[in-house]
Amino acid sequence: MPSRFIEIKTPIPGPRSRAMCVREQQLLAPGIQSISQLSGIAIARGKGAVLEDIDGNRFLDFFAAMGVVSLGHGDRVLAQALSEQAELTSATSFTSAARLRLCEQLADLTERAGFATLRRTQLYSSGAEAVESAIRLARAHTKKFEVLSFWGGFHGKTAGVAGLCGSNFKIGLGPQLPGLHLAPYADCGRCPLGKEIKTCGLACVDFAEEVIAHQTTGQVTAIVVEPIQGTAGNIVPPKGWLRAIGELAHRHGALLIVDEMITGFGRTGTMFAAQGEVVPDILTFGKGVANGYPVSGLITRDDIVADAEPWSRPSFSSSSFGGSPLAAAAASAVVAEIVARKLDEHAASLERTLLDGLHRLAEKYSFVAQVRGRGLLAGFDLEKQGALAQRQACEKLFFACLRRGLLLLAYTPRVRIQPPLCISEAELCEGLLLLDEALDEVAGEFA
Ligand SMILES: Cc1ncc(COP(=O)(O)O)c(C=O)c1O
Repeated sequence: MPSRFIEIKTPIPGPRSRAMCVREQQLLAPGIQSISQLSGIAIARGKGAVLEDIDGNRFLDFFAAMGVVSLGHGDRVLAQALSEQAELTSATSFTSAARLRLCEQLADLTERAGFATLRRTQLYSSGAEAVESAIRLARAHTKKFEVLSFWGGFHGKTAGVAGLCGSNFKIGLGPQLPGLHLAPYADCGRCPLGKEIKTCGLACVDFAEEVIAHQTTGQVTAIVVEPIQGTAGNIVPPKGWLRAIGELAHRHGALLIVDEMITGFGRTGTMFAAQGEVVPDILTFGKGVANGYPVSGLITRDDIVADAEPWSRPSFSSSSFGGSPLAAAAASAVVAEIVARKLDEHAASLERTLLDGLHRLAEKYSFVAQVRGRGLLAGFDLEKQGALAQRQACEKLFFACLRRGLLLLAYTPRVRIQPPLCISEAELCEGLLLLDEALDEVAGEFA
């Protein structure tokens, strides 16, 4: 049956994409996202969950620019908010109607999420910048300096946060900031401690306490944690784990920084992934909050910022672009739209379709394992002989998807699915169908 959403007219990449990428590669420094580099397509436009390249091929987007595209591609609301605000004023740190509106919206959302104490926002442009600022704020408030984060975690690539990452992003970069410590995440499908979730009694929380006891100098200012680990493979910890990590932080006089960069603003079926589990001391956000305009930030309590010298001094927690009228107008419009269109509830309503579809694939293909997810943030593992498959085999799956018009983060064995929140059930089902075909094509690679 011909697709209503996808149209593939040329070999992928098409001739125009190929030519444009070759020209750009001579000038652009290396190191851009793997998916862009591997696919070799040049994008012309998009609408909703569909992206069109300059050869006229239309792809279904199952990765949403790493979770940034919440409302969808080519969104009118964002375009209009940006153009209207740009005509008025784009940059100033003076109070603006847009920044006030955004702060009020965020305080309203945190209150509705059960985080009524989180009312004080500071705004930035990138996720790493927001997490760095959260750590500076924790240090300023607690007057302590060490930070605990988690294996597999990702919080950005700048020098201040690279050491918090429990993955290879810091390899080869020499010593990281002192005072950063890591403990195993609750990756229960592949428990780093070799335990079983039914009987472990959250042994990894006890292990984290041991890390604090044996590796730190007793000066832990914060525990930084993703409520679901995105970059690691959309790893969902068990119920109660995040709460236990919050209690651990507080037992040691540390703040709990919950990094909701990927999970925030409806992606997991609720406005924030931590709600119902724990109230963060500082919540960091970015990505989907402005649908592609670079906006990030942190939101915290009155008492924390009231006693946060020197972070709280004039000019000490600000940045050139953070909370500019343009950035605030973009985020305010996007947040209003996420709320008005109930995209959090939409994500929740599609969770069953997505997870049932993935479970069916896991039944059909023995090398598809560990299906997991919440809302429109899901994942599964590609295995070969019981272990995670090699990247080469996974790339074959990525290309098999790409040729069919499905953009999927399948080039590593921990496959991530995170389409724009506006995706329809029909689009989601079509993507799952294409994934089925692609898995069938490459099954031999995983035997
Ligand atoms: C949980 C989390 N924190 C922080 C970041 C860093 O964000 P940015 O790339 O905007 O610096 C990311 C990026 O993927 C992320 O997933």
